[in-house]
Amino acid sequence: MTRVGIIGLGHIASSYGGAYTHVGGILESDKVELTAVADITQEAHDTFMEQWGDKFPDTKHYSDYADMFAAEELDIVAVCTRGPHHYTAMMDVIKAAPKAIFLEKPATCSLEEMDAVVDAAKAADIPITVSYSRHWGPHVLRMAELIKDGLIGEVTGVVGHCGNSLLSFTSHQTDMICQFAGYDPVAVYARGTVPETDVPDGYAPEPALQSMVIEFASGLVGTQVATEGELGTIAVDIQGTEGRACVAFYKPPVAWNKKGEPIDLNKLGLPENASPFKLAYEQIVAHLESGPLPHCTNENFIAVHETGFAAIESILTGQRVEIPNVNRGRKVFANG
Ligand SMILES: NC(=O)c1ccc[n+]([C@@H]2O[C@H](COP(=O)([O-])OP(=O)(O)OC[C@H]3O[C@@H](n4cnc5c(N)ncnc54)[C@H](O)[C@@H]3O)[C@@H](O)[C@H]2O)c1
Repeated sequence: MTRVGIIGLGHIASSYGGAYTHVGGILESDKVELTAVADITQEAHDTFMEQWGDKFPDTKHYSDYADMFAAEELDIVAVCTRGPHHYTAMMDVIKAAPKAIFLEKPATCSLEEMDAVVDAAKAADIPITVSYSRHWGPHVLRMAELIKDGLIGEVTGVVGHCGNSLLSFTSHQTDMICQFAGYDPVAVYARGTVPETDVPDGYAPEPALQSMVIEFASGLVGTQVATEGELGTIAVDIQGTEGRACVAFYKPPVAWNKKGEPIDLNKLGLPENASPFKLAYEQIVAHLESGPLPHCTNENFIAVHETGFAAIESILTGQRVEIPNVNRGRKVFANG
């Protein structure tokens, strides 16, 4: 069993409860075990014990992740603290040298922070997978496979439906656009709003997205809008030369051929629902056992994070912004 340690025992790690949490996914999987958890508050440990204690009786609890690293041999470390805490935690985790890191989005609050984290992880040969968790919805993964194999011909465009805070939330949707359009964004033009909220010194507020156009090196264009689509939010419409499809995290996918007739997706083997975290952890384990890089890892999460920062730059300047971003120092209070 691959040994997982979690840093930050809040909502997404565990306290949302159920399958849409790291520990819910770990529980569903027979490939990973929850070896240890670290959180600075006793309350977080108490809540975990109430919700999950009977499921994880052997998991060790730490208040300081340095003590967890000293005492445990961990294969995967999941960083589930909030955005502004990611940089420090990531640099410490990389020094502790697990085999892989699973980092909650938003990866970092600036691109300078991302560069430092990526350089340190590369030097230590540790892959970083970022938890754009809707990516691993089993039906989302299957539709990405089917569309790659030509279900609707060549993809000619992708529209994603989700607004909200750019790095903390809509990055899920930006990743899903890349999942179907490719991870080669080269420029962004975006519109959005900047909230009038107080942020700590050194940070800028995190803008919310209204719309953005993403140009890809392939020539494809992706669009992300804050309005709901046919399947609601966190949903993409994919146009192809031979038909079209709508894929969402929260609803079953639908597709039509060129004549507008529905395609029977059930005949094509749509999988049972499962925790996206189970699938993500299992991709990481497969990689550690000599398989391919997990999705949303290294260059792919970098592409999504660069797109988010390019959108912020574009909202603030009114200009089209090329990727990689020139301004790498802007530090955004991405506290999701
Ligand atoms: N993938 C998703 O769908 C999804 C959903 C919600 C949140 N998130 C992301 O997960 C991250 C956490 O969000 P949340 O809502 O769970 O936050 P939260 O505030 O509920 O939990 C964060 C936990 O981290 C702990 N913590 C802070 N500093 C620590 C440290 N140095 N060592 C150990 N523990 C520490 C806090 O005590 C807290 O319990 C954010 O980056 C957020 O964007 C992702």
